[in-house]
Amino acid sequence: MSDSRSLLLVSLSLLAIYPAIAGIVPPVLDNGQRSASSLNPFDTSNYGKLQLDNGLARTPQMGWNSWNFLACNINETVIKETADALISTGLADLGYIYVNIDDCWSSLLRNSKGQLVPDPKTFPSGIKALADYIHGKGLKLGIYSDAGSFTCQVRPGSLYHENDDAELFAYWGVDYLKYDNCYNLGIKPQKRYPPMRDALNSTGRTIFYSICEWGEDDPALWAGKVGNSWRTTDDINDSWASMTTIADLNDKWASYAGPGGWNDPDMLEVGNGGMTYLEYRSHFSIWALMKAPLLIGCDIRNMTAETFEILSNKEVIAVNQDPLGVQGRKVSSAEETGCSQVWAGPLSGGRLVVNLWNRCSNSVTVGAKWEVLGLDTSTSVSVRDLWKHENMAEKVAGALESQVDPHDCKMYILTPTTSHSSI
Ligand SMILES: *[C@@H]1O[C@H](CO)[C@@H](O)[C@H](O)[C@H]1NC(C)=O
Ligand SMILES: *[C@@H]1O[C@H](CO)[C@@H](O)[C@H](O)[C@H]1NC(C)=O
Ligand SMILES: *[C@@H]1O[C@H](CO)[C@@H](O)[C@H](O)[C@H]1NC(C)=O
Ligand SMILES: *[C@@H]1O[C@H](CO)[C@@H](O)[C@H](O)[C@H]1NC(C)=O
Repeated sequence: MSDSRSLLLVSLSLLAIYPAIAGIVPPVLDNGQRSASSLNPFDTSNYGKLQLDNGLARTPQMGWNSWNFLACNINETVIKETADALISTGLADLGYIYVNIDDCWSSLLRNSKGQLVPDPKTFPSGIKALADYIHGKGLKLGIYSDAGSFTCQVRPGSLYHENDDAELFAYWGVDYLKYDNCYNLGIKPQKRYPPMRDALNSTGRTIFYSICEWGEDDPALWAGKVGNSWRTTDDINDSWASMTTIADLNDKWASYAGPGGWNDPDMLEVGNGGMTYLEYRSHFSIWALMKAPLLIGCDIRNMTAETFEILSNKEVIAVNQDPLGVQGRKVSSAEETGCSQVWAGPLSGGRLVVNLWNRCSNSVTVGAKWEVLGLDTSTSVSVRDLWKHENMAEKVAGALESQVDPHDCKMYILTPTTSHSSI
């Protein structure tokens, strides 16, 4: 074919940015140029093909989890109050619908029938009553167990009890299971995680399956067929160092995410006090772009206005929940310092999301050239700033550039306004 060379070049340049589409040949115009619609250049029918087919996680899950703020200090009162707060703050309406109980809900021992038992001191009404309460508000309830002999806080684990425990969860009306990795007897996760998938499926209840094996055995390579999301890293903590480290580690697996199964760089720390406002805004911007689960980890009964402003940014949430479901990636990083970083990815409707991120402590100019974004040099775009909620410019061409404060992350949507394919 006469245009095979240009086809190859186009494919290579796209692959450099979107390795998610390895093997998928992007559409090429007759003259060998990428069209503006090739911003969204690939056949999305391949997305989700390798993913668990339980109908869930078409977009990343959103909700709240008890661990980051409360750790083991949980009880049915605080879970109910949190559900109430999701409603009263309006966060539920924005998509935060899962109320997920983490470790420590269970008694130290199973009952005489071998069943898990909610701790009678902290969950005296039981999980079924709690699920009814949560469902009554239009929300969904998540619970936690472990693919080992104990949970991390040494409650009974579900290894070799998968069917019994899944049945109990389904009977209680649980909608989501986070499945941890402690006390795993050194058995490969590829052996320990599928039995719970099958047990959940056998209950007939649709239950979101969140795999938490800390990224130890490269779960992106096998977990798509097993769970709806898989942790890619060790636990996050409430610091800039942890958040940035985890973002970089999660980025490596971008090509394996898609509708039905997502990389999980762990829950949000926004609002827990260990980072500044701009750092939390970066955290939220990058998690949204990476199609990470948006699981709030702070006390939403008592949020500051700044915390609420971050978590409730509809435009940023819309990037995370975009139906195209392609994980954005780091596409450039200032070579020596790594200070100026560009993270980007395609969105539905031929749009692009672009984050300009300053990872250092001096103000810098961060620029994204069209070639780095996979845009044709002749394309001009309109630019929307998702934190200012303003349209910045109608016809930008060649590059997008901005002064970015230390640890800040600007977030833009680029919409092509021209698509020159003239020769
Ligand atoms: C429930 O947990 C919350 C959060 O840790 C705590 O403030 C509250 O005192 C607890 N309530 C009861 C009744 O134990
Ligand atoms: C069980 O798995 C089958 C095959 O993947 C799927 O079609 C079905 O929806 C699943 N059911 C539940 C309850 O997850
Ligand atoms: C938080 O994570 C960072 C980066 O991984 C690590 O250096 C630090 O020791 C952690 N802090 C705590 C309190 O665990
Ligand atoms: C609410 O949060 C503030 C810090 O933002 C804290 O000082 C206060 O103790 C919290 N109140 C409750 C009831 O937790």
